[in-house]
Amino acid sequence: MSRKIWVFDTTLRDGEQVPGAKLNLYEKVEIAQQLKKLGVDIIEAGFPASSQGDFDAVKAVAQKVGHNSNMMITALARAVKDDIDSVYNAVKYANNPMIHMVLGTSDIHVEKKFSKSKDQILQIGVDAVKYAKTLLPQVQYSTEDASRSDFEYLWKTIEAVMKAGATMINVPDTVGYAEPEQWGEMIAKLNDRMKNLDDSVLLSVHCHNDLGMATANTLAAIKNGADKVEVTMNGIGERAGNAALEEVVMAIKTRGDVYDVFTDINTKEIMNTSRLVSSFMGLDVQVNKAITGDNAFAHSSGIHQDGLLKSRDAYEIVHPEDVGLDDMELVLTARSGRHAVKNALSKLGFDDFAEEEFEGIFENFLKLADSKKEVYNHDLYVIVENYYEKTEKNNPNKESYSDQFYDIEDLQIISNAAFPSASVKIRRGEDVFKSSAVGSGPIDALYSAIADVTGIKVKLVEYNISSVSRGQEALGKVKIIIEYGGENYIAKAADTDILKASAMAYINAVNSVIVAKIAPQPVTTTATV
Ligand code: KIV
Ligand code: ZN
Repeated sequence: MSRKIWVFDTTLRDGEQVPGAKLNLYEKVEIAQQLKKLGVDIIEAGFPASSQGDFDAVKAVAQKVGHNSNMMITALARAVKDDIDSVYNAVKYANNPMIHMVLGTSDIHVEKKFSKSKDQILQIGVDAVKYAKTLLPQVQYSTEDASRSDFEYLWKTIEAVMKAGATMINVPDTVGYAEPEQWGEMIAKLNDRMKNLDDSVLLSVHCHNDLGMATANTLAAIKNGADKVEVTMNGIGERAGNAALEEVVMAIKTRGDVYDVFTDINTKEIMNTSRLVSSFMGLDVQVNKAITGDNAFAHSSGIHQDGLLKSRDAYEIVHPEDVGLDDMELVLTARSGRHAVKNALSKLGFDDFAEEEFEGIFENFLKLADSKKEVYNHDLYVIVENYYEKTEKNNPNKESYSDQFYDIEDLQIISNAAFPSASVKIRRGEDVFKSSAVGSGPIDALYSAIADVTGIKVKLVEYNISSVSRGQEALGKVKIIIEYGGENYIAKAADTDILKASAMAYINAVNSVIVAKIAPQPVTTTATV
């Protein structure tokens, strides 16, 4: 029978250890609410002994997110009374609180970090568990640096803390040293001994990604009997990060033939959670990151696009809809073939071409694709309409729409403390519009000036800027998410001038809104340049 794997999310503790990713109380509570929607079993909300701010944030998560739910709320303590008290006083407001403590078991930790004997460290751990048990029934013990520990000492520690009352044993690969096969064998041995001693105690793993093997090690542990996994959203965490929740969960779901286990994660909430964590922590997700990267469901080669359009399983093992995305994305570039271009055109209502007409349009598409990185929906309108105008043929498909799209011609931005302001010159078809606005900052002023021209009032949900290349000529990439009519539209643009890239991204987003209004069937809400 399929076994349940408990998902322990440590985005708010190990994930928050990433330099610069510190969250305030409100942000922690909001992410915790989203993790609850995602369906994690346990949230590790922080390290309350580290600061008053973190204590307050963990307490707020326990009170606001953990009070009316069976989901466990925990936080980290070292195996010392003050830390344990601090965790208890922060998490006790949750319906199902737990104390999590950590103490090293490797020779390096015992001898070099603590300068104590193994027996002394073991006793400190046992005493700490006994003390924590006087406060709460649920206590997790983590044997830090387990992957580099002497196995018999590791087991002696686990046996002793289980007898002292620990209800979960977490075995961390703290420095990402483990190798899947060896690690799996070790977990199988520990699982065997633990289940013989007390099969109500859960065996957990916590894997770091220093050698890029965190997900593989976590999955190897599952195959060898682990009941619980400690993971973070987008794989963030100390140094190279932790095993990524979305990778572990989707591997289990996709390869049921290998793992035969399940989680209670609502996978359709994965993208929402990933975006929230990335935006609050200011940590971009690598574009080719499995499951949550921008390109994870974007297909660009002509051969792949053709295969997908014939049968999605040709190149798709995870359905984008399963992680909360609308659809796969067929990015139109110079490498796209006829099949993909025809498909994109037909979604815009252009589906009645003579063969020779399509060839002419495809030729124009390739010319534009060669000069631009990507071609998107509003470009297709222009390509089709130009083709019919130039050839003086009658467009059998559509009336003219291309003059509804906007293009930025010029802009000027003044950034100062008192009156950040922007002026823009924007073209739509033959018409040129000018507008100026003052805002709370230069981007706010810029977007107000553009909105004034377009008359399309959108809500800016997310604004993100990153560098694509280095040096003086570095390209700045701007990615924005806007909301219009209850729909989110994602748009991107890149330029050496980041203010111009910001304006282009906004114009791309507005053009996507216009495409969505005129296209006869739903089209992708992503626009890129
Ligand atoms: O990596 C580690 O060992 C940890 C423990 C606190 C579980 O983060
Ligand atoms: Zn860790």
